[in-house]
Amino acid sequence: MSTITDAPVAEEAAGQHEPDAAADAFAERVMTAGLGWFELMSIHLGSQLGWYAELDRSEGLTPAELAGATSTSARYAREWLEHQTVSGIVLVDDPDRVDRRYRLAPGVSTVLLDTSSLSYLEPLARFAAAVAGATDRIIDAYRTDGGVSWDELGRHAREAQADMNRPWFDGMPALLADLPHVEAALSTPGARIADVGCGAGWSAIALAQRHPHLQVVGVDVDAPSIELARANAEAQGVADRVAFIEADAAQLAGLGPFDAVFAFECIHDMPDPVAVLGAMREAAKDGAPAIVMDEATAERFTPDAGELEQLLYGLSLFVCLPDGKSTRPSVETGTVMRPATLRTYARSAGWSDVRTVIPEFGLWRFYELT
Ligand SMILES: C[S@@+](CC[C@H](N)C(=O)[O-])C[C@H]1O[C@@H](n2cnc3c(N)ncnc32)[C@H](O)[C@@H]1O
Repeated sequence: MSTITDAPVAEEAAGQHEPDAAADAFAERVMTAGLGWFELMSIHLGSQLGWYAELDRSEGLTPAELAGATSTSARYAREWLEHQTVSGIVLVDDPDRVDRRYRLAPGVSTVLLDTSSLSYLEPLARFAAAVAGATDRIIDAYRTDGGVSWDELGRHAREAQADMNRPWFDGMPALLADLPHVEAALSTPGARIADVGCGAGWSAIALAQRHPHLQVVGVDVDAPSIELARANAEAQGVADRVAFIEADAAQLAGLGPFDAVFAFECIHDMPDPVAVLGAMREAAKDGAPAIVMDEATAERFTPDAGELEQLLYGLSLFVCLPDGKSTRPSVETGTVMRPATLRTYARSAGWSDVRTVIPEFGLWRFYELT
């Protein structure tokens, strides 16, 4: 199959330069990235308009039927369906018919609609769109050494983060069962635990659902996240045992003591992780497990680190580092918090050491503070 970049670049065609294989290869890579960007944004568009959900409910729809069922524009629906078809996301049975019908390609509904699937990646498109909307502020932050807070990234970023992690959190309590001392702490009658940087609360809710007598306190500085977490706990029927408090996790000691303390994918975002890790130490009862889940980075920086670190550095450029720098003073960690960095923070906070207890779970690693 030919690609756009099979065509000679304009300058070469005009005989202005010698062929440059490296430039051609990089041009192809940038073009592929551009196609990916359009794909991601078209996924965001189709998700927000309810088009994937409507296609999923049907055996096949014309643009007019799709638009009618979703109260949207038929002309835009046609353009989007044609884009989705040439991109392989949507199938069409008879392309030559004027009133052709479109349906989702296999696998699409799992990835874009099944909120409980570990393959659910629609939130990635929402995240990309949120970042795109904040581009000017991010560029300004890079010029002025400023920051862009989690709050400034807006609703889509907050909710996409929560929705992306949720299916993983659903499976997380079963994974923790492999750590006997953690399972014992969570199963102790009357146990009370803390979830710092709890976001929309799915980790706290999942732990409460697995352990029917557990009391959970979720703490987050972001007020809309706390509101969302309370609504989620209510909807999941655990609001009587899961409380969410809007506070800096550095104040956790005042809410203790706890039988276990957790920090899920948030230490690298914090401007003062030492204060929070110190508060976790003060708030935890003697011998209580203290668990940090954070990105499964390599031990050290290497140029050929692979796709995971490409993704983590990408998130760091546009989300975590600008967010971490939006509060002053800040240690400015960024998404790529390596084990040695966490160990330095933990020791400064009075912990003796950090050990890896689950090396890889999705994009993450579980550490125990000892
Ligand atoms: C990447 S989000 C992770 C949220 C949630 N744990 C999850 O995995 O979905 C990081 C969270 O840390 C919170 N956060 C950052 N600094 C904090 C602090 N000092 N105290 C409490 N929460 C904080 C942010 O508001 C945000 O909700």
